[in-house]
Amino acid sequence: MIQLVRGFKDILPPETSVWQSIEDTARRHFENFGFREIRPPVLEQAALFQRSIGEHTDIVEKEMYTFAGSRDTLLTLRPEATASVVRAYIQHKIYAADPAARFYTIGPMFRKERPQKGRYRQFYQINAEVFGVDSPYMDAQLIYMCMTFFRRLSVSGLQVHLNSLGCPECRPAFREKLSEMLAGRAENLCPDCLRRLEKNPLRVLDCKVPACREAVADAPSMLDFLCDDCGQHFRTVQAALADMDIEFQIDPRLVRGLDYYTRTAFEIQTSELGAQNAVAGGGRYDQLVEMLGGPAQPAIGFAIGLDRLVELFAAKFPAPETGPEVFFLPMGDAARKRAAKWSSQLADAGVRVEADFSGRSLKALMRRADRMGAARVLIVGRIYIRTCGQVAEK
Ligand code: HAM
Repeated sequence: MIQLVRGFKDILPPETSVWQSIEDTARRHFENFGFREIRPPVLEQAALFQRSIGEHTDIVEKEMYTFAGSRDTLLTLRPEATASVVRAYIQHKIYAADPAARFYTIGPMFRKERPQKGRYRQFYQINAEVFGVDSPYMDAQLIYMCMTFFRRLSVSGLQVHLNSLGCPECRPAFREKLSEMLAGRAENLCPDCLRRLEKNPLRVLDCKVPACREAVADAPSMLDFLCDDCGQHFRTVQAALADMDIEFQIDPRLVRGLDYYTRTAFEIQTSELGAQNAVAGGGRYDQLVEMLGGPAQPAIGFAIGLDRLVELFAAKFPAPETGPEVFFLPMGDAARKRAAKWSSQLADAGVRVEADFSGRSLKALMRRADRMGAARVLIVGRIYIRTCGQVAEK
């Protein structure tokens, strides 16, 4: 028997109903905040992700499903959606009429990570992206939208971790200081962090290896290096969040695994999912639109890990088995014909039906209806009409 590929999974009923209701809630909630749905393809040119996520990130270095397309182009199954949404914003000149635009998208992403609980090779995200707005109030509103979405689903126990990663003005000084410090502790770092030390020292800050955590315990904080504008921006985000009653904690170790971030970076974490504790992550990427060939437009967004959210949600609210409202139980061929027609018409009229055409005994079918949790059973039998001494089955 051909089995599932490792790291991939089937989502089966009744769990699919949980997915549907979370997705429906997201659509309604995000649309109230002025977001419209966009559906980019799952396949893009590899260069799009290499340039946006960054050559020296784990995602680009080792986690992308990339293969040869036609005419020497490399194609990649998207590991995230932000780069695709930015590409669409530029390619369709969405900015031309009004640079401020808000989009959401729901769909599968692909990363060749080591599979474990909460970490899959095909996983699903709900993304929200805002273009053309650099106001810190936008950052606060986006985090508010995310947290009130979780509240709508009655998912609690979530913490907002917040940091600022500065901008191309102020980050280099921090990077240099950090590299200097880490170079003095190189012998304590894991092989991955030794490589990061060269190309991407900020990533050492969120390495999970205990020796690396110890090595960065007293690392400098980006927050001490923020330029005046970034500092003011970050303070305003915090004040706006406090004003909206959204609790958060400043986390100077939060660097995120993608290189495009500037200024505000955040993660929504839970203690209920074990090692994979981030339910959502996002931040500003004010340089990315221009970097990918578009006009200089600021942007900010986040993505919710739908698989992890479903796990949190289903632990509290297990998926209900919704049985048919009417279970048709026909006896005999003429009755099956009638049941096929009636049950179809009833389903079309908006009633959840099931009709069993198997021809098994009444007892067997009653048992099946019971197992399915049918609210009503409709036994379709035969009617004999006697006319002029003849018996006709109707
Ligand atoms: P990310 O932090 O890589 O950010 O992913 C966002 C969320 O997707 C994570 O917090 C997690 O819940 C979920 N996730 C990531 N990888 C996996 C996996 N292998 N299995 C299951 N769930 C996973 C981004 O992708 C950015 N594009 C977010 C963003 C949007 N930033 C700005 N706009």
